[in-house]
Amino acid sequence: MTRDTLHGADEIGVGLMGLGVVGGGVAATLLDPAQHVARTVGRPVSLKRVLVRQPDKERQMGVPPGILTADPTLLLNDPSIQVVVEVIGGEEPASSYIRQSLSRGKSVVTANKEVMAKEGQELLTLAAARGVDLLFEASVGGGIPIVGPLMKDLLANDIRSIQAIINGTTNYMLTRMARDGMDFDEALKEAQGLGFAEADPANDVEGIDAGYKLAVLASLAFHTQVRAEDVHREGISGLRARDFRYAHELGYAIKLLAIARREGGQVQARVHPCFVPQEHMLAKVDGVFNAVEVEGDLTGKILFHGRGAGREPTTSAIIGDLVEVAKKLGAGGGPAPFFPPGNSLTVAPMSELVTRYYIRLGAADRPGVLAQIARVLGDQDVSIASVIQKDSNPGSQTAELVVTTHPAREKAVQESLQRMRGLQVVRQVDNLVRVEDWPSD
Ligand SMILES: NC(=O)c1ccc[n+]([C@@H]2O[C@H](COP(=O)([O-])OP(=O)(O)OC[C@H]3O[C@@H](n4cnc5c(N)ncnc54)[C@H](OP(=O)(O)O)[C@@H]3O)[C@@H](O)[C@H]2O)c1
Repeated sequence: MTRDTLHGADEIGVGLMGLGVVGGGVAATLLDPAQHVARTVGRPVSLKRVLVRQPDKERQMGVPPGILTADPTLLLNDPSIQVVVEVIGGEEPASSYIRQSLSRGKSVVTANKEVMAKEGQELLTLAAARGVDLLFEASVGGGIPIVGPLMKDLLANDIRSIQAIINGTTNYMLTRMARDGMDFDEALKEAQGLGFAEADPANDVEGIDAGYKLAVLASLAFHTQVRAEDVHREGISGLRARDFRYAHELGYAIKLLAIARREGGQVQARVHPCFVPQEHMLAKVDGVFNAVEVEGDLTGKILFHGRGAGREPTTSAIIGDLVEVAKKLGAGGGPAPFFPPGNSLTVAPMSELVTRYYIRLGAADRPGVLAQIARVLGDQDVSIASVIQKDSNPGSQTAELVVTTHPAREKAVQESLQRMRGLQVVRQVDNLVRVEDWPSD
């Protein structure tokens, strides 16, 4: 395709909302004189307007200053803009801008996991009603293609489960804690210094970001509505260096996993730290890398692994979506919804989860203590798999006990912990981590 043929064809106008880490990459690709996107689409693709908060801020991106604006109506009301790329982030005003764009008949490409997790189905329905597209590959896993495969390539499968490491910041911190014995605060400070963690790290370390992404993946995988608030969330701030030492001794890595599993008519959706067997592929995913393991009835287990964030990987996902939309423009049709109307799986309560557990506690260092703890667990039908006793402190006569259990119900384990805390011989329950033991393939 030559430049001349490109110039002869109808132009596709793009409005970009946001010119930060990701928006900067998208703008650079669209303004690249080699016109890679246009050549792939087969029509000229022109960046018409860029919405930012502060148009006068100094920027290094080569975006013509004349197209920068802080006025969203200049994009929303411009009939020459057929596609809006939303990379502002956060719920508002991004959600309203996406809604308004779709309502005005513009297709939207977004990287916004929060909006998709909270309003994905409604927005996709709106897009379908208006006959336009809403694509969101970049909202989960950065440069890893996972939304596309779930919406298309894996459709022949009944998806059984998704197990994923989908927050690079916490995976980086956990890697440092495991490899270098760092404590949580030290690892967080380093991640912030390297620009991997925000000044306010709650979204990452409390599992909120991973929860949004899991809601999107689970909705797609199980063709049912899993909202952000349906996902059980626990972060990594309770983990201590000693938990990593015990995990290592027991043959596990500790990872913040996002897990969605179909069980009968229910879907389990949870984000929390997990013990993962050292030989499992997910245990080997280190640093800022992400990985998503999908198990389909036909495919068996598939692992998607790669860079889950950053300008270039995320730009790759957005431009892929943009090319898809641009190619379809004029051909009609809209996006498939998250799930067909009338689907009615329910999200399983966390209390009904059955898995194995690691419990670390401080107890009086004297005979009979273990028997009392075993009785509390036994009363709830929780059976012990192993016990380690360490760090006996003669001064305070306290011993550290690490108990792992056979598969047990969450409700029973929580009840046991409650009772243990009431035992005179138990000084404190320090940590509980769920153990994800998969049968080897
Ligand atoms: N960063 C990554 O690696 C990554 C990876 C995957 C997905 N994402 C997602 O991509 C999106 C963008 O992330 P980012 O890291 O590029 O964000 P960012 O660097 O903070 O950039 C945000 C951009 O949006 C603009 N903006 C913010 N609020 C606005 C408002 N109210 N009105 C108009 N413009 C506004 C900002 O304008 P100013 O420049 O004037 O401040 C800035 O250009 C988020 O949804 C994020 O979750 C990011």
